[in-house]
Amino acid sequence: MTNWEKGHYINYKKMSENLDIVRGRLNRPLTYAEKILYSHLDDPHGQEIERGKSYLKLRPDRVACQDATAQMAILQFMSAGMPSVATPTTVHCDHLIEAQIGGAKDLARAKDINKEVYDFLSTSCAKYNIGFWKPGSGIIHQIILENYAFPGGLLIGTDSHTPNGGGLGMAAIGVGGADAVDVMANLPWELKAPKVIGIKLTGKMSGWTSPKDIILKVAGILTVKGGTGAIVEYHGPGTENLSCTGMGTICNMGAEIGATTSVFPFNDRMYDYLAATKRQHIGDFAREYQKDLKEDEGAEYDEFHEIDLNTLEPYVNGPFTPDLATPISKFKEAVKEHKWPEEVKVGLIGSCTNSSYEDMSRAASIAEDAMAHGLKAKAVFTVTPGSEQIRATIARDGQLETFERFGGMVLANACGPCIGQWDRKDVKKGEPNTIVSSYNRNFTGRNDANPATHAFVTSPDMVLAMTIAGTLNFNPLTDTLKDSNGKEFKLKEPTGDGLPRNGYDPGEDTYQAPPEDRSQVSVAVSPSSDRLQILEPFKPWDGKDALDIPILIKAQGKTTTDHISMAGPWLKYRGHLDNISNNMLIGATNAANGEANKVKNATTGEWDAVPATARDYKKKGIPWVVIGDWNYGEGSSREHAALEPRHLGGLAIIVRSFARIHETNLKKQGMLPLTFHDPADYDKIQPYDKVDLMCTELAVGKPITMKVHPADGSEAYDVKLDQTFNESQLEWFHNGSALNTMAKKAAS
Ligand code: F3S
Repeated sequence: MTNWEKGHYINYKKMSENLDIVRGRLNRPLTYAEKILYSHLDDPHGQEIERGKSYLKLRPDRVACQDATAQMAILQFMSAGMPSVATPTTVHCDHLIEAQIGGAKDLARAKDINKEVYDFLSTSCAKYNIGFWKPGSGIIHQIILENYAFPGGLLIGTDSHTPNGGGLGMAAIGVGGADAVDVMANLPWELKAPKVIGIKLTGKMSGWTSPKDIILKVAGILTVKGGTGAIVEYHGPGTENLSCTGMGTICNMGAEIGATTSVFPFNDRMYDYLAATKRQHIGDFAREYQKDLKEDEGAEYDEFHEIDLNTLEPYVNGPFTPDLATPISKFKEAVKEHKWPEEVKVGLIGSCTNSSYEDMSRAASIAEDAMAHGLKAKAVFTVTPGSEQIRATIARDGQLETFERFGGMVLANACGPCIGQWDRKDVKKGEPNTIVSSYNRNFTGRNDANPATHAFVTSPDMVLAMTIAGTLNFNPLTDTLKDSNGKEFKLKEPTGDGLPRNGYDPGEDTYQAPPEDRSQVSVAVSPSSDRLQILEPFKPWDGKDALDIPILIKAQGKTTTDHISMAGPWLKYRGHLDNISNNMLIGATNAANGEANKVKNATTGEWDAVPATARDYKKKGIPWVVIGDWNYGEGSSREHAALEPRHLGGLAIIVRSFARIHETNLKKQGMLPLTFHDPADYDKIQPYDKVDLMCTELAVGKPITMKVHPADGSEAYDVKLDQTFNESQLEWFHNGSALNTMAKKAAS
């Protein structure tokens, strides 16, 4: 499966057999996206399959985690008591490196600041047989493409731009940490069978147009919500002319339209890339199964679009949203109309989206052309290589030196400004200004925490052009610049090799393989750390009904995972459950007073913060419940939103309805997610009422009773609560959590 691991193989034969079973059942042509998913079904014979409806139980080939999300995922995995991960897994240190003064120094600083996190990740990876890519190795998605992605494969990754792997024909899907833990611990992974959006590409790009422009145009067509619940499948003759890394760029940014993932069918460009990255044997193997690695003739899509690459123009998308797509021919008008700040303050190239050898070579060709006319970058200019391999190769082949002569600053091989890890000094907070990047996301404040920064995303080529001109009002296809003698000239169209002629230079060795004998490895977590904490297994259910227990909070209106477990400064504590629990439900509105983070303690009568009140109940051995409104827990798959209430002694979350992923996450942590059989009961129940919860009634498909003791002394009444536990989920509740259940099984 990869050159970095022994004993992990691609099993095209088994995948093909699974497909035959499914094909026999469905009896219709399949899209490529379906083929990848159905060939990874846990039970191809019995699985119900209806696009957009059924929940597929899948067995991914790999798991990948970035350093910010890996912490809690591994901490949870540890509590399953398994000696090693059940599915090949890698961890990538890329998110915690802040761009300040340039690559080497920023990296050294990050290693120092994040030492305890890196030590934990490095030792836990060694212990549990996980490949560890050290800080400086590069951005997760680039490393996956270079080393792990393969046609027809299924990978889950704890980062939204995981779909980048679609450039190599893999269904690579971004998930939350809880899903990663399941797969690491050998549980099947559940995904609602996606719909499939077909995008047919015809023709061939030329000149200033690049693969990025395809996805920028698609984002304009489908908008930020258009891909929700769907896989975007590119096909058609136009795909043959795109480089593998270019296809990666297109799939990467599919995350911006909300798509589950994006895929390209296996083709010769992928074969070339596999060969260039020392995996020709995988390419040869894939060719043997070529028919399974593309759509069937006549495959039907839920939605269909066609793009003619012959006429595709470069696009500039933004500001503030990636789906505001403007072709370059109309861009000047748009700048004027919307009064966007014309001066380009900073041009940024690279990131996981656009840092291939091809991207860098084309960008360098533009910089060279400008310098041949005596011009350099007018705006501040930064380059983020996507991996150590890219950095070393462009250092060897001269592009890096070109960027430096051009006036650029080369940053560490990491996320940097893309994730807001940017100590920007050239403008003050609140000052309206424009930056142009080859990244994927441009929401308000994402890059520099300045809400007045107008961030545009485009191809690296257009970033270079606008960085040279120093203005948004420059169209390199039609406009001229003045050289150092005042003579007008037009920039030449960019050129560059798709793959390095002399092969890739691997650069410094930044990979840590897990040792063969892992028995002596101990995981480094300091007991005094405020960022990391070993998880104690949750207690099993005591087998009793819970009587006369308080309502911690009756939450009113929207209660998203952000209200339940806020992000921002709290991200620092992702690996420390007790510390991060101090943000539990602090964003939820209390129906009793309309305020956030202010509830009355039922035992003392005093008003206090939600987490503090929960801690007091926990100390006194009193379980508690939360009452919530519609779609409780919508937003993200953040597992902290389920871990925190469990950690602070919660028993049940009782709501009008749940966001499905949050409901499952609560079950995994051994909590009871329950819904009012009659949603009107939400209004009846008052914040200071007490309840009896008949946990002993819990059985598959049966409602359970809650007796409400009104605080005003009126007569107690029963409320019927529904639940969706299946047999194995009931075990999770009985044992205290899904991981306790895994641990029990591992021990028996
Ligand atoms: Fe990193 Fe930005 Fe990509 S945060 S993973 S470079 S989207």
